[in-house]
Amino acid sequence: MVTIRGFTIGRVISVSDFVLDGGMDNSPIAAKDRERLTQAAYAVAGNAYAMYSQFEVGAALLTAEGEVISGCNVENASYGLTMCAERSAIFGAVSKFGPALSVRAIAVVNCKNVPCSPCGACRQVIYEFGPEATVIFRGSDGWNEVSITDLLPYGFRLK
Ligand code: THU
Repeated sequence: MVTIRGFTIGRVISVSDFVLDGGMDNSPIAAKDRERLTQAAYAVAGNAYAMYSQFEVGAALLTAEGEVISGCNVENASYGLTMCAERSAIFGAVSKFGPALSVRAIAVVNCKNVPCSPCGACRQVIYEFGPEATVIFRGSDGWNEVSITDLLPYGFRLK
């Protein structure tokens, strides 16, 4: 804890907080975790603010430490400001756990139960916090469980 100009700051970040690679666990996701993620994603999809598309989406991620954090899509009358469920979950997880967030897996579901994989913007954000993350989503021939690098080859990295 540090106090700066009367504000108490939870912690001070350092460069090492942002080291994303190394020691990541990319073993298959256990059935129990897959179930936890899809359940959490369905549970939060009902909170979506999807009044323009009527397409309610839920996402839930598993951190390297075994925590589950979920998020839903939040639309806006200015359509381009819409936030997808996947990014809602990831940004919420960073807000909760801090910048060292390591995403091991993320599941995305929708209330229409139609095929839906993460959009390009969300793939890049997943890659930022989980360069080896497993992405679970419904495809045209059932559930898919694929690596983020299969969904996003050559993801962008500043370092
Ligand atoms: N959407 C998501 O939340 N995640 C996806 O993976 C695909 C699309 C949302 C954005 C928008 O609110 C609605 O679905 C229709 O595009």
